[in-house]
Amino acid sequence: MSAVVQGSPYGEGRHPGWPARLGPLRVAGGVVAVRPIRLLDAGDWSRVRRRDRAYLELWEPTTPGSWDERNAVLAWMSQWSALRGLARNGQCLPFTITLDGEFAGQITVGNIIRASLRSAWVGYWVASGAAGGGVGTAAVALVVDHAFASAGLHRIEATVRPENVASLRVLAKAGFREEGLFRRYLDVAGDWRDHFCYAITAEEIGDGLAERLVRSGLARRV
Ligand SMILES: CC(C)(COP(=O)(O)OP(=O)(O)OC[C@H]1O[C@@H](n2cnc3c(N)ncnc32)[C@H](O)[C@@H]1OP(=O)(O)O)[C@@H](O)C(=O)NCCC(=O)NCCS
Repeated sequence: MSAVVQGSPYGEGRHPGWPARLGPLRVAGGVVAVRPIRLLDAGDWSRVRRRDRAYLELWEPTTPGSWDERNAVLAWMSQWSALRGLARNGQCLPFTITLDGEFAGQITVGNIIRASLRSAWVGYWVASGAAGGGVGTAAVALVVDHAFASAGLHRIEATVRPENVASLRVLAKAGFREEGLFRRYLDVAGDWRDHFCYAITAEEIGDGLAERLVRSGLARRV
């Protein structure tokens, strides 16, 4: 097997697809847009995540420290700084999801590898108060379209616990394919958890996932 060479086909030091503002799309829950994370997201990010602990913790990687420490306003500063560094290096597209202009969650395209792989994963969460109205699906559609059209990627993966019916539904609505089950794949909520691997490639999106949502009546252009 030949080695995958890391580096950008667009030239060193470039970060295709970053920064960007995506959308808006109107869905049942309101108007969804996606924009780069900001330092000023700290207050909303911390408030929502501390409130939504029970709803988020079951699905998120285990990390050291208490939930409140990890989701304090100060914790955002280091996350924002690290993510912004990766984005400027072309390794990550870290976005905030907004609903009707208000902070409503995060969506990140991470582990971007270029050259002959041109692959990445997508991860997301939506505030509990904004969930169930098509926000997550719209955000995934906008970001995947962008990753293929502007960031030069070819394949996006998402890994999901089999118990996470809401996330599985998001991926199904967005058009991802199930590729298999990774056994004891990721340390989530304190134990090694199985995850389904879902994926989509540039050839599969036709005129775009957002356009497909519009055509199927799940979203409208604003
Ligand atoms: C997964 C998540 C992002 C979905 O966001 P969302 O804005 O609610 O997504 P959507 O509204 O686009 O779609 C959710 C779908 O799941 C369905 N759903 C939600 N909870 C469900 C449940 N307990 N049982 C069955 N279906 C459920 C909704 O009905 C909806 O499907 P529908 O449109 O066919 O009715 C959100 O639930 C979340 O942030 N969860 C916690 C973090 C997380 O799981 N992140 C993903 C890790 S892989």
